[in-house]
Amino acid sequence: MKKRPIYEQYNNIDWKNQEKTKMNSFVYDYIISNIFLKYNDNAISLFDVGFGIGLFLRMFLEKASKKYARVYLEGCEPSKTSFEYFINESGKEMNMVAHHETIADVKTLSKFDVITAVYVMPAVLFEDIEHFAKKVYLMLNKGGRFYCVIAAEKSYKDSKNNKDLFTILEKNNREYKGKHYTEFLHKSLLPGIGYVFDYNRDEDLYADIFSQNGFWVEEKKEIDDGYFLNTLFIFKK
Ligand SMILES: C[S@@+](CC[C@H](N)C(=O)[O-])C[C@H]1O[C@@H](n2cnc3c(N)ncnc32)[C@H](O)[C@@H]1O
Repeated sequence: MKKRPIYEQYNNIDWKNQEKTKMNSFVYDYIISNIFLKYNDNAISLFDVGFGIGLFLRMFLEKASKKYARVYLEGCEPSKTSFEYFINESGKEMNMVAHHETIADVKTLSKFDVITAVYVMPAVLFEDIEHFAKKVYLMLNKGGRFYCVIAAEKSYKDSKNNKDLFTILEKNNREYKGKHYTEFLHKSLLPGIGYVFDYNRDEDLYADIFSQNGFWVEEKKEIDDGYFLNTLFIFKK
């Protein structure tokens, strides 16, 4: 039986309160200021996978349009609630192509220098990750990069002792090309937003799947936002 897509939960929680709590904005600012504003070009094209209510896209556009002569933006978001919030609150004024669908369903003729997925992989089912990698590969320019942010393995291992904030619902053993990985489905409480279900996996699983699909791991970095430890993977095509 096909599992229900995990993104459907975003129709029933208050992700829009991210507008007030500014959750994740430290990480957005970090990658925008330290990476995306440092390219030595006069144009940049970026596709954000699972843009939620678009906070990252807005921060990026505001800063990038001061640095680059041309900024080309596209993104996708399958949750109806988040997509509509984005379009009504800010998307209409932003000169960008916004797809209301998963990355698997996106049809675009454009190729991108940068594709981002910020806290999106934990919402993607294991069986869909390889297809995700292949699609991102097709959408990138040669030499383009995929930036993937996830909660660091270490940080969820630390928080799993706090049962109010973090409850493990399933532990799965996953196999990819003969190697074994652990995956936890958990429920965690995000302040002001509500309970979110997602998957934390051995980080090597992402490195191995993307490496098998045409990428190399250019960098793997920890970003400490003062609350949580995050892992940023930079996969280069
Ligand atoms: C934790 S939220 C992060 C949203 C946003 N990137 C942010 O930083 O606030 C995960 C998002 O991934 C989206 N998502 C889940 N599966 C997806 C898929 N296959 N393709 C594109 N987006 C997906 C969900 O709808 C949700 O908005």
